[in-house]
Amino acid sequence: MEPIDRRSFMKSVAGAAVLVAADSARTKAYEGSPVFLSTWVHGKPANERAAEVFKAGGNLLDAVEKGINVAENDPNVTSVGYGGLPNAQGVVELDAAIIDGTRHRAGAVCSLREIKNPISVARLVLEKTQHTTLAGEGALRFALQMGFRPEQLLTPESLKKWLDWKANPQRKTFWLNPADNHDTLGMVATDGKGHVVSGCSTSGLAWKIPGRVGDSPLIGCGVYADDNVGAASATGNGDLMSNYCTSISIVHYMARGASPQDACTELLEHMVKTDPDNRTGDVCVIAINNRGEIGAAAMKKSYRLKYALWRDGESQLLESVALY
Ligand code: GLY
Repeated sequence: MEPIDRRSFMKSVAGAAVLVAADSARTKAYEGSPVFLSTWVHGKPANERAAEVFKAGGNLLDAVEKGINVAENDPNVTSVGYGGLPNAQGVVELDAAIIDGTRHRAGAVCSLREIKNPISVARLVLEKTQHTTLAGEGALRFALQMGFRPEQLLTPESLKKWLDWKANPQRKTFWLNPADNHDTLGMVATDGKGHVVSGCSTSGLAWKIPGRVGDSPLIGCGVYADDNVGAASATGNGDLMSNYCTSISIVHYMARGASPQDACTELLEHMVKTDPDNRTGDVCVIAINNRGEIGAAAMKKSYRLKYALWRDGESQLLESVALY
């Protein structure tokens, strides 16, 4: 058989079939298949709610916000919203952020007290103001102006845990060693048409020094989204991760051609390259690109990320890779 050049091949019947197959692979990823990817076990009901809201006609921001509300409203989730463990003074202080990959606009709140749905307040900062981040007293005043009701966010269980911590003369404080509790809910999502959103909500580290702000409400750290590329979010020790602007770094790795999975591991490897002690850090990240491909990774096996994936109508709980 005569060898044929590429141009002639593409004009042939076989060539046309190759082109159609490549096209359909591209459009399959983009067309009509929303994907919701969230951190931890509490991400599963959050994804399911997000998918429901999206299916009912909500946009992607609505879906991510309402999905995250599920964990915020659940008193059994002790790291997010109502029932989140308090700071060292026994006061619950919440952080949240949401970013729209189309408009490249975000809203965030830090150290918000008495309001159980900080992600919804963050959404309103995005929609109703020219600001990006509101903190503390101002964030609370804004929430009240927007019609949110102040509530006691301590549950009997979280109050007891705080009293036990307070009564323990050997208790860990953040002046010395961190205590364990930072299972932030991060969610990244695509509408299946190339639009991406990232949101996260947390009560931060249990027993934190009052006023401490972690990575979650910092744009580029806890969340980042750009429709040209994809979106990322993070969970773990926000004091450590803030120093690495984890989410924007992952999106930039994807912009340079990395898959979401490779971008997640590249970030973790970079953290270890700059400081080998980071191998022991509580660091987990998730990412999605604008074609709906996903990635998830944890720094170490003893803090391996359980993550939730909603795709094609199926809701799953999976385990990430762990580097060390
Ligand atoms: N990643 C949550 C926090 O450290 O506040």
